[in-house]
Amino acid sequence: MSVLIVAVDGPAAAGKGTLAKALADVLGLPHLDTGLLYRAVARRMILEGLDPQRDDGEALARRLDQADLARADLRVPEIDRGASGVATQPGVRAALLQRQRDFARASGGVIDGRDIGTVVFPDASVKLFVTASPRTRALRRFRQLHGDAPLSDAGLTALTDDIAARDRQDETRPVSPLKRAEDAVVIETDALDSAAVLARALEIVRASQDETR
Ligand code: CDP
Ligand code: CDP
Repeated sequence: MSVLIVAVDGPAAAGKGTLAKALADVLGLPHLDTGLLYRAVARRMILEGLDPQRDDGEALARRLDQADLARADLRVPEIDRGASGVATQPGVRAALLQRQRDFARASGGVIDGRDIGTVVFPDASVKLFVTASPRTRALRRFRQLHGDAPLSDAGLTALTDDIAARDRQDETRPVSPLKRAEDAVVIETDALDSAAVLARALEIVRASQDETR
């Protein structure tokens, strides 16, 4: 019997991680946030005085350990940009590929990232593509990091520009760009809260399980 693999892809701050974790809990599967792998490589490079946009991160990617992934300081703007930079390197991506596949081999899983449905698990049982406008996503990321803190229009515009720049870097890189898999189901989340997104995703997973029964 094949294991259940749910691929969750989409742009920054669309709600992939929140959805993937909740889906994993409901379905009783392990969850892997693959963005953390790229973030951890970028953090390591910065600590060693390397530039994630320019220097080769493959050797560090091969040496990542659990402690690197468990760091609480991986979600800062410098690492957002750094991760997007190392993610353009074919050597880094190759080093992380097997690790991602091994994660779900035995018991399946819910895996979120940019290229899960296209490259890492092209045969995933279910592929979801979660998205929202850059402005919605910028506001979500701000609230996630700063709660109710005030945010000016100019501040929101600057954050929206950062998100749009990262989208561009992720969508235009030659290796494993962010792209919807042809057989992925899109969930537009501008008008949906996390609970509504989870409900929609569960409908999609259950429909696909009924089909394969
Ligand atoms: O949480 P957020 O969507 O802001 O970012 P993330 O998922 O933690 O990913 C950080 C960066 O890693 C992204 O901008 C991508 O460039 C890269 N990434 C990737 O290339 N492939 C993946 N499967 C996951 C992340
Ligand atoms: O993993 P990704 O970067 O795609 O996004 P996330 O870290 O899961 O979610 C970013 C923030 O948006 C979190 O604070 C979520 O609670 C919030 N959010 C969401 O995930 N889904 C919605 N439909 C609305 C808000």
